[in-house]
Amino acid sequence: MPASLVIEGGTPLRGEVWASAAKNAALPLMCASLLTDAPIVLENVPDLADVATIQKLLEGLGAEIGDEGSGRLTLRTERLRSHEAPYDLVSTMRASVMVLGPLVARSGRARVALPGGCAIGLRPIDLHLKGLATLGAEIVLDQGYVEARASRLRGGRIHLDPVTVTGTENLMMAAVLAEGTTAIENAAREPEVEDLARLLEKMGAKIHGAGSSRIEIEGVEALGGARHRILPDRIEAGTYLVAGAITGGDVTVRGAIAHHMPAVLEKLEEAGAILEVGSDTIRVVGPDRPRPTDLVTAPFPGFATDMQAQMMALLGLADGESVITETVFENRFMHVAELRRMGAQIVTEGNRAVIRGVPRYLGAPVMATDLRASASLVLAGLAATGTTVVSRVYHLDRGYERLEEKLGKLGASIRRER
Ligand code: EPZ
Repeated sequence: MPASLVIEGGTPLRGEVWASAAKNAALPLMCASLLTDAPIVLENVPDLADVATIQKLLEGLGAEIGDEGSGRLTLRTERLRSHEAPYDLVSTMRASVMVLGPLVARSGRARVALPGGCAIGLRPIDLHLKGLATLGAEIVLDQGYVEARASRLRGGRIHLDPVTVTGTENLMMAAVLAEGTTAIENAAREPEVEDLARLLEKMGAKIHGAGSSRIEIEGVEALGGARHRILPDRIEAGTYLVAGAITGGDVTVRGAIAHHMPAVLEKLEEAGAILEVGSDTIRVVGPDRPRPTDLVTAPFPGFATDMQAQMMALLGLADGESVITETVFENRFMHVAELRRMGAQIVTEGNRAVIRGVPRYLGAPVMATDLRASASLVLAGLAATGTTVVSRVYHLDRGYERLEEKLGKLGASIRRER
């Protein structure tokens, strides 16, 4: 029986919590280690299910991974033992497709299972494949796998539409060892993309414009080893800020970087939270009752789609009507039906959700459907009257390190039940 979280709501959260390292940075950084036969030392690696999955995938390809404890991993692939990312791993975590670029760049060959559908949308990887083809790779689909081959990739001009985060990362990793220069236009500008570029540059890559919508990569013959500390998780930090706001509490998130989440902070203030921003801390004091506000999700620096569900939980208690428009994924309102079970008044129409705020949520048994939807149910449970039981919390373990321990330290009454 998968574990559940049992939450007694109604306690204003107070105190400090440390932001863990970003899952969405750790995954591409670990894949980048395939680009060299020298050791890559990553620090501040989060203890998450998705990190364990990528570790297993890399070891299957030939990586030696040494865990030195306290979040430090040494990854070294002196020799590739395989070129295949098997379906059983890719189907559990679609981010596994990020071995495609490094494998083709380093060895001229990759066989990666096509990721299937996902709870939040179709999520094709056509732009990853089109970009690789532009760099000269021959792409063949075979029995649910992508086969990519190239004697050596060569530079080219790639225009991404829509903006894709892992697509930008995959193609950046392919281009660093290509012959000549690559330009990625309409590139993702997420902080995790910049963090990957920082590691690649330490390995000897030549990259200009990471963090902007046009990235230029001058290919080099080979890359070396490096040491890199993974940046804090802006989505995890944002989730704790909403926890403070939704319970009317006073929470400080340490290690959080404000300019990694400008739109989230702006919307929290519009909803009535008081924020104090330091160089690496963000303090939130929650309102007695949130104010309504509207938001539209968008690629960075817009409002992160990975914070949409959490913000919906907050606006569900607002003193008025809010509208949330989800523009990144076509099916990211799975949490609505569960929030309604707790008394929320939310109506969806296509990619818009109209939220009529209610004075309080009522505790209820609810079911997690994906990572961020489950976070929103935990937040609603913290604010609710009575007991909430969130089942299938394995979704949470994919992206939140020691969630109930951290919330417990802030005064929440929360426990895991098997
Ligand atoms: C990354 O996913 C994140 N995952 C997601 O976080 C996040 O929600 C997403 O970016 C958007 O910010 C990781 O970094 C591991 P996209 P990614 O490619 O790269 C379409 C979480 O909760 N598209 O930027 O897979 C796609 O369907 C997760 O931590 C194509 O059409 O997302 C979507 O509508 C969930 N063709 C849009 O682009 C492609 O080839 C943006 O997706 C690629 C994408």
